[in-house]
Amino acid sequence: MAPTTIVLVGGSGGIGAALCRHILDHSVASIIATYHRETVPMIHPRLEWVKMDVTREQDYCLLLQLIDAKYGGVDWVINCVGALDLGSNTPEKSLRSVDASNVLNSIQLNTIPTLLLAKYFQSTLRNSAAPRFVTLSARVGSIGDNQLGGWYSYRCSKAALNMALKNISIEWGRLMPRSCTVALHPGTTDTTLSQPFQTNVPCEQLFSPSKTARLLFEVIQSLTPEDNGHFLAYDRSVIDW
Ligand SMILES: NC(=O)c1ccc[n+]([C@@H]2O[C@H](COP(=O)([O-])OP(=O)(O)OC[C@H]3O[C@@H](n4cnc5c(N)ncnc54)[C@H](OP(=O)(O)O)[C@@H]3O)[C@@H](O)[C@H]2O)c1
Repeated sequence: MAPTTIVLVGGSGGIGAALCRHILDHSVASIIATYHRETVPMIHPRLEWVKMDVTREQDYCLLLQLIDAKYGGVDWVINCVGALDLGSNTPEKSLRSVDASNVLNSIQLNTIPTLLLAKYFQSTLRNSAAPRFVTLSARVGSIGDNQLGGWYSYRCSKAALNMALKNISIEWGRLMPRSCTVALHPGTTDTTLSQPFQTNVPCEQLFSPSKTARLLFEVIQSLTPEDNGHFLAYDRSVIDW
């Protein structure tokens, strides 16, 4: 079922902005997108921007109030917020670089926002005919797929995110049987986040944000309750948790 209203958290990011543009071009849905620091990347009649800091719990409450008051509910919640490089020594090459504050900051941006989005948007998503709850994770957050080690803060925070999503999918699977909650790996995409780490990525494996947006939208559109609780890649392949 086509969504009427979509919340896109992190709509100002490399992937978030491209996804926002793609959805506006390929659907009739209204989008409420959040930005954090500076200016918004685009203006559109079906797009409303809300400034939000995902580390402030009151901002989730304000976002929900605005959506309930102006839109009467939401069908999809997509979270594109995340961080890899959090300053000195991240991402860590070895245990020697591990710093507790970097680990905590990483969890604050990569893990907790999804838990708070689920907490605040549960009641409004329950009213949707086909609720979808999607967060951009990363393949490096897979425990089963980890062959290389390193990147402690990022890997741990994305693995914790994956557990949060799996838990939400179980709770909501009982509460709202038509819902679908998934973690999505976008593939390596040319954004500010990945720029310092692109040297060894073969050209064909480095996606433009618009290509990633197209692939992610195809996956999100195709989701059904049978996909609930899965970790999927941009090509819809299932990734080991
Ligand atoms: N790019 C890749 O190759 C790749 C690969 C695998 C997974 N991912 C995942 O995909 C997601 C998007 O990545 P990206 O490449 O698009 O990164 P990006 O361009 O750096 O975008 C990050 C987004 O997070 C937002 N953000 C950061 N701190 C925030 C805060 N305190 N409150 C609210 N928003 C905040 C930023 O908002 P402002 O810009 O307004 O500050 C921006 O919208 C991330 O979860 C990332 O881990 C990316």
